[in-house]
Amino acid sequence: MSRDYAGVRRVAVIGAGTIGSSWAAYFLSRGLEVIASDPKPESESFLRRYITAAWPSLERLGLAAGASVERLRFVRDPMTAIEGADFVQENIPEREKLKIDLFEQLGSALPIKVLIASSSSGLPISRLQSRCRFPERCVLGHPFNPPHIIPLVEVVGGVLTSRAAVARAMAFYRAIGKRPIHLRKEVKGHVANRLQSALWREAVHLLAEGVASVADIDTAISHGPGLRWAIMGPYLTFHLAGGEGGMRQFMHHFGGGAKLWSQLGSPVLTPKLQRSIIQGVAEETGERPIPQLAKERDASLIAIYEALGRNSSRPDETSIKG
Ligand SMILES: NC(=O)c1ccc[n+]([C@@H]2O[C@H](COP(=O)([O-])OP(=O)(O)OC[C@H]3O[C@@H](n4cnc5c(N)ncnc54)[C@H](O)[C@@H]3O)[C@@H](O)[C@H]2O)c1
Repeated sequence: MSRDYAGVRRVAVIGAGTIGSSWAAYFLSRGLEVIASDPKPESESFLRRYITAAWPSLERLGLAAGASVERLRFVRDPMTAIEGADFVQENIPEREKLKIDLFEQLGSALPIKVLIASSSSGLPISRLQSRCRFPERCVLGHPFNPPHIIPLVEVVGGVLTSRAAVARAMAFYRAIGKRPIHLRKEVKGHVANRLQSALWREAVHLLAEGVASVADIDTAISHGPGLRWAIMGPYLTFHLAGGEGGMRQFMHHFGGGAKLWSQLGSPVLTPKLQRSIIQGVAEETGERPIPQLAKERDASLIAIYEALGRNSSRPDETSIKG
């Protein structure tokens, strides 16, 4: 018998590319049943290879009782995948028409109680739900890559989404050990990518101005504030920067850190600047190929996750160490 999280035992994962495969691996690790669908014939082997590669990390993070790759089924047709599903996680390519059509198709067959969540990074759920039957059960459940490791899920409702659906999506993601946040408004890029983008813009500006190399700008984050950001976000970080008086003092004594804002850049990504970035990254990485960098990143992510231990949202009582 598969596990039950907030009434969900079986998840349909529609689209088994990079994100769908990672979601599938995570759902399986929580002891859920997963039916994945993808029209590309080669996707099944991609999905199975992805899960095999991710499984040792998931074992280290702690599998739920009953978690097994045997609970995975693969089909080509999304309509077959959703049969008997309690929750749908959609991960097809980022094309509005394709997703609207799919939502319409899925909605016509799924009972009203089944939530349909989209992983979309940039399309508004208000558009995706526009032709779906019972659009009140459509939400955005935006993960961070790779979803089998990163806990954050951004949950957003569209104009037609019910509050109950948002609450149920939050409850499900929380129950499986994710760290969902609720966005009260649809906004391009959601929250985390906007924050990343603000930092990226300034990183590019600093390079364009010749202030530091690509490698040194990266070090300024990864060996500096980035270490703190795994523990607390910008608000709490500056609350502590205010000393005993916390955020109140930070506002009064340091002007809320706003003095620098007028100095920040807004670079134009010219072809010349793009070449400097590409060259800088090549110098920074040397001979190390991307799969190796990704492996190193994931191993360090897990180590950080483990170190943070008690702060993680993973429910301890369901975990067994693999
Ligand atoms: N890649 C990221 O870093 C990232 C992060 C968060 C969210 N997302 C979002 O996740 C979604 C998927 O992105 P990805 O990077 O995994 O893309 P991808 O191209 O790797 O995978 C998409 C998969 O969907 C399949 N597909 C196409 N039409 C389909 C259909 N009708 N039914 C079922 N499967 C279908 C494709 O064959 C492909 O395997 C996008 O909406 C994207 O915005 C991506």
